[in-house]
Amino acid sequence: MKQHESEVYTVFWRGDAVVMIDQRVLPHEERYNEYRDVREVADAIRNMVVRGAPAIGVAAAFGVALAARESDGNVKAISEACDLLASTRPTAVNLFWAIERMKEHIDEGAQALLAQAELILQEDIANCKAMGSFGAELVPDEATILTHCNAGALATGGWGTALGVIRSAVAQGKKVRVIADETRPFLQGARLTAWELKRDGIDVTVVPDVAAAALIASGEVDMVVVGTDRVARNGDVANKIGTYGVALAAHADQVPFYVAAPWSTIDMNCPDGDSIPIEERPSSEVTHVLGQRILPEGVPVRNPAFDVTPCELVTALITEVGVVRPPFEDELKRMKPA
Ligand code: MRU
Repeated sequence: MKQHESEVYTVFWRGDAVVMIDQRVLPHEERYNEYRDVREVADAIRNMVVRGAPAIGVAAAFGVALAARESDGNVKAISEACDLLASTRPTAVNLFWAIERMKEHIDEGAQALLAQAELILQEDIANCKAMGSFGAELVPDEATILTHCNAGALATGGWGTALGVIRSAVAQGKKVRVIADETRPFLQGARLTAWELKRDGIDVTVVPDVAAAALIASGEVDMVVVGTDRVARNGDVANKIGTYGVALAAHADQVPFYVAAPWSTIDMNCPDGDSIPIEERPSSEVTHVLGQRILPEGVPVRNPAFDVTPCELVTALITEVGVVRPPFEDELKRMKPA
């Protein structure tokens, strides 16, 4: 059942269950969890068994399909399941996009809803491939690319957004070296990006987040490519906390800063970054590392999971319909797929 070359199966349907690779235990263990209850799917999204904006959307779509099966197509039960899923994580607009799309088919029964979820998954993989092709054109024949968080196969249906650009550039024969920020506190870069790229044989070096600006200033980095959880219509982008700092450093040293995003991540109803809800995650992610407390007891902690990079710092957006350059609002309106 090979769906795509990277062969990472993030979220898929098997038999009567949604299956997800458990991203909390990677890279030490490749564990696939099966879910047959929409409440479990909601918990899996909240607890980051599955994470990454497009993957969250796919998982939610399968969650709605599960609710339809559980309730034998009962519309009230399915819409309650939609509300539950929508309450899991606030920033990734793909979650709400996927739920709204599923709601359009709410009257069509369990089988149709499962088919719709499967379609969302397959479209996401195809969109990542298309983004990859457009993005690869921006990559020099030999390039060192810095990325933050994980915007790879694990964050999508497959192939990835930012890592999809890298995979496509490598597939075209370009010599790419990747610098992956470790991405405190959940360590998506150290654990997930490093795992994905290593298994694909792509040259990857992990650096502490605090090293990124210095490496950019040293001239070692040719371009930055990241994913995003929501693009506002003016081109402001919300992504994993720390992205803004990387964008500032890239801007200061005239290093191109690209953001790869499928159209399901672009929120034309959101005027700018100030309107993007930023998730605050549990303090335990900061107070503890691998189960070990590292802070003194009683010290307050903040754990904003995302930040907003203003559009002035974004060189271009890479979408499945092409590369979008400033002025973003006009160009997004012009290029928006029908
Ligand atoms: O908290 P996470 O791991 O869900 O955050 C994910 C990111 O910030 C990714 O960069 C973003 O979702 C783009 S994924 C293609």
